Amino acid sequence: MSLMDWIDERIHLKELIKGQLTEYYVPEEINLWYSLGGLALFIFIVQVLTGILLLVYYIPHTDFAYDSIQRIMTQVPYGWLIRLVHAVGATMMIAAVTLHMVSVLFMGSYKKPRELHWMSGFLLMLLTLGIALSGYLLPWSQLSYWGTTVATNAAGTVPWIGPELNRFLRGQEIVGGPTLSRFYAMHVALIPATMVLLVALHLFLIRRTGISDPPGR
Ligand code: HEM
Repeated sequence: MSLMDWIDERIHLKELIKGQLTEYYVPEEINLWYSLGGLALFIFIVQVLTGILLLVYYIPHTDFAYDSIQRIMTQVPYGWLIRLVHAVGATMMIAAVTLHMVSVLFMGSYKKPRELHWMSGFLLMLLTLGIALSGYLLPWSQLSYWGTTVATNAAGTVPWIGPELNRFLRGQEIVGGPTLSRFYAMHVALIPATMVLLVALHLFLIRRTGISDPPGR
C-alpha cells in the first residue's frame, strides 16, 4: 500500500484533490486571460522560495547589506542566479498582477457575485507594490537609497496623513538604518504573511463561485 493510499484511507484526500484541484468544472470557453491569476500565483511562489535562499546570506544592516549582496553575486554558488530570478521575478509579478486585474476588469468578471474577489485582489495588488518597494531598498545601493527617498517623499504628499506616513515609513527624518530595518520586516514577514492569507481567501472565493463565463456567453 502506498503512502498516499494509507493517507487516503483515513482522510479521503484523493476525493478532495479531485473535487477542488484537478477535476472541477470550468466554463467551456475560457481563454488565455484566465491563466494570469495562476501565473501571478506561480511567480509569488518562486519569489518566496528564492527569497528564503537569499535570506541565508543577506545581512539587514546598513554596514553590511551592500557587501552581503556583492558576496551573493560573486562568491555564493548560484547566488547570482537566485538573486536575478528574484529581481526579475518582482517585475514579472507586477506585470502579471496588473494584466490579471485589467483582464478581469474588461471581461467584467468582478461583477456580482464576484465583488469580494475584486476587493481581495485589489488588496493583493497594493501589497504586491508594497513588497516590491520594500525589497528595492534592501541592497542598500545608491539606486535603492534615492529610489526609496523619492517614493517616501511621494507618500508624504498623501492628503492629511502624508507627513505621518512618511515618518512612519522612514522611522526618522531621512532614509537610514531605521528605514532599512522596517522595510526588511515588511518585506520578509509582514507583507508576505498577509499575502498568503489573502491569496488563500481569494482562491477560496473563486472555488465558492466558480470561474466566470467569458463575455458574450
Ligand atoms: C497576488 C495577486 C493575485 C493572485 C495570486 C491571484 C490569483 C487568482 C487566480 C488563480 C484566479 C483564478 C483564475 C483566473 O481567473 O485568473 C483569480 C481570479 C480572480 N481574480 Fe485574482 N489574483 C491576484 C490579484 C488580483 C487582483 C489585483 C484583482 C483585481 C483587483 C483580482 C481579481 C480577481 C477576480 C475578479 C477573479 C475572478 C475571475 C473569474 O471568476 O473569472 N485578482 N485570481
